[in-house]
Amino acid sequence: MSLRYEKFASEKNQVKPKIHPVSITADEAYSTEFEKQQLGFLKCSVCCGIFAAVILIIAVVMLVLGFTVLHVKDPKIRMNSVAIVGLDGVNSTELRNGNVNLTVVADVSVKNTNVEGFKFEGFNSSLLYHGGTVVAVVEVPGGVIKARRTMRLNLEYEMMMKKMAGDPQFRRDLTAGNLTVLSYTRITGRVKILNIIKRQVTVTMNCSIAINVTSRGIAEDCKSHFFI
Ligand SMILES: *[C@@H]1O[C@H](CO)[C@@H](O)[C@H](O)[C@H]1NC(C)=O
Ligand SMILES: *[C@@H]1O[C@H](CO)[C@@H](O)[C@H](O)[C@H]1NC(C)=O
Ligand SMILES: *[C@@H]1O[C@H](CO)[C@@H](O)[C@H](O)[C@H]1NC(C)=O
Ligand SMILES: *[C@@H]1O[C@H](CO)[C@@H](O)[C@H](O)[C@H]1NC(C)=O
Ligand SMILES: *[C@@H]1O[C@H](CO)[C@@H](O)[C@H](O)[C@H]1NC(C)=O
Ligand SMILES: *[C@@H]1O[C@H](CO)[C@@H](O)[C@H](O)[C@H]1NC(C)=O
Repeated sequence: MSLRYEKFASEKNQVKPKIHPVSITADEAYSTEFEKQQLGFLKCSVCCGIFAAVILIIAVVMLVLGFTVLHVKDPKIRMNSVAIVGLDGVNSTELRNGNVNLTVVADVSVKNTNVEGFKFEGFNSSLLYHGGTVVAVVEVPGGVIKARRTMRLNLEYEMMMKKMAGDPQFRRDLTAGNLTVLSYTRITGRVKILNIIKRQVTVTMNCSIAINVTSRGIAEDCKSHFFI
């Protein structure tokens, strides 16, 4: 082993290559400039990295806020039940002439699913008949629905029967035994987030109410729900 190594070493010594001293012609200024550039690049990378990280953190925070605190959800409005009052014991002649007082009583709930209160303006809930004629209006005063609370409304629509009796459709509906009215409610209000940001919110409910004249009750209440 040692012999072999010695042989190799001697051979290596024999073919010793001539080493030319390498002359570095680059001046010192260039060298330091290059170093500076490298250092600058490193600094820039670190800066960019920190900047990107900050942007990312802000983006994530905004996203989280956007999905939680700042996310305003539209209140949900729905009609739970409907009843008709005054149709019992009314004879068809009186009904046909509109000489009766009919009242539609609707149980409506407005649910505020936000983490902040929903302040709404006073609004009207109307009953529309054939072609959009307003036959009853209920005025609801403005108020506040607290966070994650549901407001329950008992709306009593007093129908203007004379107005309905004046419509040729009324006779046709009575003959068919199916009197359909549309309940229309539009609530406008705002949700104030962290006492800074105000978001305007509008919810609408269109709901058809079919009155069965024969059975003197409600045949269909709110088959068409519109949650906006
Ligand atoms: C309906 O009632 C009115 C008075 O309430 C009466 O004059 C009329 O005869 C009645 N009509 C029928 C068909 O019962
Ligand atoms: C309907 O109600 C009004 C008052 O709201 C009353 O004057 C009228 O007599 C009532 N009509 C009938 C047919 O009950
Ligand atoms: C509700 O309707 C009445 C008329 O029936 C009207 O005077 C009032 O301005 C309406 N209110 C709103 C908030 O639209
Ligand atoms: C009653 O009338 C309405 C509209 O006119 C219609 O959508 C509904 O299907 C009718 N209901 C019945 C039971 O005929
Ligand atoms: C509700 O009904 C009103 C009046 O008929 C109409 O202007 C509005 O577009 C309807 N909204 C929806 C969501 O159907
Ligand atoms: C109204 O009610 C009667 C009896 O309950 C039923 O026979 C009839 O089909 C109903 N009509 C409508 C339009 O729902």
